Amino acid sequence: MGGEGGELTGRLSEPLRRRNIFILTGAGISAESGLGTFRDSKGEGIWARFDPMKLATPEAFARDPEAVLAFYDLRRRNLISASPNAAHFALARLEAGLLARGGRLTLVTQNIDDLHERAGSRRVIHMHGELLKARCDACETVRPQLGDLAVSHACGTCGRTGALRPHVVWFGEMPMRMDEIERALREADLLVAIGTSGAVYPAAGFVAGARARGIRACEINLEAADNADLFDEQRLGAASETVPAWVEEILSE
Ligand code: OAD
Repeated sequence: MGGEGGELTGRLSEPLRRRNIFILTGAGISAESGLGTFRDSKGEGIWARFDPMKLATPEAFARDPEAVLAFYDLRRRNLISASPNAAHFALARLEAGLLARGGRLTLVTQNIDDLHERAGSRRVIHMHGELLKARCDACETVRPQLGDLAVSHACGTCGRTGALRPHVVWFGEMPMRMDEIERALREADLLVAIGTSGAVYPAAGFVAGARARGIRACEINLEAADNADLFDEQRLGAASETVPAWVEEILSE
């Protein structure tokens, strides 16, 4: 099966093999849009300034919902005044370009911002949820949420107060849409991780899964990720420059 047959197919149809691309983005792609990253080498990331155990767990929400909601209110306000950057726009161009060539892009993001959508990406899988949505813990209804959330707010569907929370994944909770993500990973022929530190699972494990199936993997990042040695190729630099350059290469193949 593999051996010669695999190699021959690989050499003869390298451009074709690149047509089903799986992209994983992290906070680094939105850094130049003014949204902070969680971890950095200078110790200035969000989790160096705020304790995730007090702000991003179901237990924290049960203990001190006002503090948790205020943290996400601040991030929501920052997001609403932010704009997508050249890296987000390049990935939207890549999606359209691949589709036009009969290919496919799966864009999975750990980001809870909507900058990929605002840049024009059509299919975005938010595995850690979406900041501009709220969910009722009582009836599970998910609705758009552009303003601040308060404990006194009632759910528009079931009428309960105190049950509305940001529609995001907290530590100790299951990431969203994992079946869809696993399926897309199995079908991809190239995995590209952009602006993610490789510190949080299960996303950090996608590259090992891809490599185990013989899928090529490329890291595009400002600084090498924790799992950098698992990638075949690495491009270091600011996403607003490295991502458009890489997309142009792929689209001109
Ligand atoms: P991190 O903050 O852990 O990592 C950000 C990555 O982006 C680092 O590898 C930086 O080198 C890189 N970076 C910074 N600026 C960049 C730029 N201009 N261009 C390119 N890369 C840049 O963010 P994530 O890996 O996304 O989860 O974090 C994963 C998860 O941890 C988040 O989704 C969040 C957090 O806890 C939850 O809240 C559940």
